[in-house]
Amino acid sequence: MISIQFFNDIAFASELQQRAKIQIGSLPNSPPGSEDDTEAKIKLGNKLFRDINLSANQIQACVTCHPIDGRSAGMDRQTTPRGTFGQQGKRNTPTIFNVGFNSVLFWDGRRNSLYDQAIDPFINPLEMSLSSESELIQKIQNDPSYSHYFVSAYPENPNINIHNVRLSLSAFERSLVSKSKFDDFVMGNLLIFNRQELEGLNIFLEVGCTNCHSGYLLGGNNLSKLQSAILYNPNDFGRFEVTDDSNDRYLFKIPSLRNVTLTQPYFHDGSVTSLKETIERMNEYNLNRRLASSEMDLLIVFLKTLSDKTKSN
Ligand code: HEC
Ligand code: HEC
Repeated sequence: MISIQFFNDIAFASELQQRAKIQIGSLPNSPPGSEDDTEAKIKLGNKLFRDINLSANQIQACVTCHPIDGRSAGMDRQTTPRGTFGQQGKRNTPTIFNVGFNSVLFWDGRRNSLYDQAIDPFINPLEMSLSSESELIQKIQNDPSYSHYFVSAYPENPNINIHNVRLSLSAFERSLVSKSKFDDFVMGNLLIFNRQELEGLNIFLEVGCTNCHSGYLLGGNNLSKLQSAILYNPNDFGRFEVTDDSNDRYLFKIPSLRNVTLTQPYFHDGSVTSLKETIERMNEYNLNRRLASSEMDLLIVFLKTLSDKTKSN
């Protein structure tokens, strides 16, 4: 027996699907710039991503802080991670999934491309702590297992150099695409969302979360000023630390909300563990109106649909 309620729900779903398609969109199959990412380059990047020998005392790889295997969602669940020597990091680790779609990288937006970013963690004193790019290249050259990977990836110029390392790591990172139930909904499967998920999406669009968390990544492509900087670690000035421009004080990246229910703790300083409190804080930002507690609960139900179905973290 098909009820009137059912038809109402379908009409509501269909109208929302149209709005979500326009205001958010669905995730493409691969990020921009991935046209030349061959299987061989991705394989080499995967090896580099997991190689603990490329850290100062051989205990840490990219995958240590950005775990991707099994049900891990691309970040370490720490407030801020520890580096090779146990030194406390300054900022929360973002997930590496869907990173290829971000045009703003790092919480202060100091990089715009994965190619430019790729070497930073190896020589960051808070992360893998190598002394220089040449130390990195030397370590790779000293490991005989790498040479055939470089030959396959770059048959015309199989040199172990910084350029090829950058290309391979970024190709691998671009391959880490993670879709969600939300994408199925936007692509036309209207029945996949239950009533609460539909209502959560409706609130998300209505109150203006998309003013900042915009595009199919729901963030990741812009920065925004903290409205109440006092609520955070006041020693981190965000973008100001890169530009020295006082207008940039407390300007931080607007993170993508994809996989957000799997990546607590939250914010650039990892200071908040509960998603509800995180959303409560968004009341301090430029919303169209304040949120009621029951609306925040529905927003959380919606945010869950943005998570990779194969991950639980
Ligand atoms: C010690 C833990 C740690 C290690 C090891 C590490 N990262 Fe990260 N990663 C972080 C943290 C913390 C940030 C955020 C730093 C910031 O914003 O200033 C980050 C940010 C990033 C970003 C930007 C993500 C975004 O959405 O803005 C990318 C890309 C990235 N890391 C890739 C890598 C790669 C590639 C490696 C290995 C070469 C690596 N990371 C090793 C902790 C780590
Ligand atoms: C004025 C811009 C703006 C608006 C509007 C906005 N946000 Fe945010 N949001 C941000 C910024 C900036 C951050 C990162 C703050 C930080 O790291 O300190 C953030 C962080 C978050 C986080 C934490 C993500 C993480 O990985 O740490 C969640 C969840 C979130 N926002 C949800 C929402 C929801 C839901 C709405 C609508 C109710 C919303 N936001 C509206 C700018 C905004």
